[in-house]
Amino acid sequence: MLPPLGFTLLRALSDGDFHSGEALAASVGLTRARVSQVLREAEMVGLKLERIRGRGYRLLDALPFLDRAAVVGKLGAVAAGLTIDIVDTVDSTNSELLRRATRGDVHRHLLAAEWQTAGRGRRGRAWTAVAGGSLTFSLGWRFERGAGFLAGLSLAVGVALARALESAGFDGIALKWPNDLVHRHCKLGGILIELTGDALGPSLAVIGVGLNVRLPPAARSEIAQAVTDLAAIAGGRRIDRNAVLAGIVTELATMLEGYARDGFAPLRGEWQRRHAFQKKPVKIVLPDGDTARGDVVGVDADGALVLDQGGRRLRFVTGEVSLRRP
Ligand code: BTN
Repeated sequence: MLPPLGFTLLRALSDGDFHSGEALAASVGLTRARVSQVLREAEMVGLKLERIRGRGYRLLDALPFLDRAAVVGKLGAVAAGLTIDIVDTVDSTNSELLRRATRGDVHRHLLAAEWQTAGRGRRGRAWTAVAGGSLTFSLGWRFERGAGFLAGLSLAVGVALARALESAGFDGIALKWPNDLVHRHCKLGGILIELTGDALGPSLAVIGVGLNVRLPPAARSEIAQAVTDLAAIAGGRRIDRNAVLAGIVTELATMLEGYARDGFAPLRGEWQRRHAFQKKPVKIVLPDGDTARGDVVGVDADGALVLDQGGRRLRFVTGEVSLRRP
């Protein structure tokens, strides 16, 4: 695991320029040998460094690190309604926000982390991300209503993410039921919503979002499915993760205010337009391994997937089922 000091060093290197071992050591008050060791640990978690004798170290594929002031600046007036916390390392932003919720109110709290040591995906899977090359964050939102009303929330979050990325100039982003963000059928991001509270409300949703910004090959090889990242979609354009985060949070806050009033129904048409498998044949894998095939009709007002199987309508709720190409 990368020690906090590693982040201090990586921040110093995040400009992409060469920094000598002496200068880095002096900036953190360590020996050059310790700096070299910490940077080796950074390489082990997926960062690419160049070392040249006489010049020092340079971070390849450098991306500016997350910076609270930059995010707040780009959020403008939206920031006033949010509590914003950006940390270097946490086990999982969802887990941390759920822990904080046991001690106080986390409504409208945003927690973003540069690196998660135990990021969680849907259906008990791990979520792979890399410091400097991903966006991993969670937003707490309280609703007066309960779980039934929130059934379509993860689909609504997908719409907000797609809107934000489209406005930031990333074209061709689609959704895959229930809540994957995809580009040309490769996974770009995921959403994990965890609910607490009474069945009839009020309830707290911890909305976790993971987005691939620039995943190094080592991180890709850990993921058991076809993945893509914003860098591939941007085609060489420099990506400002602080701006992308601020754009997403702005869209999310607007969407969530609307959802609290009207639920998923007003977003259903847009979700279907963005669905990568709309009107296409698919295979559904059930928790016991059984499969069902059919053509996607769309989603209903609760976000359940509706398939047509030879004239018979089948309805699947989000949860344990997954959708595949036939
Ligand atoms: C999926 O399986 O597609 C959902 C992935 C959700 C990952 C995000 S990263 C931020 C938040 N914290 C977590 O531990 N998981 C979510």
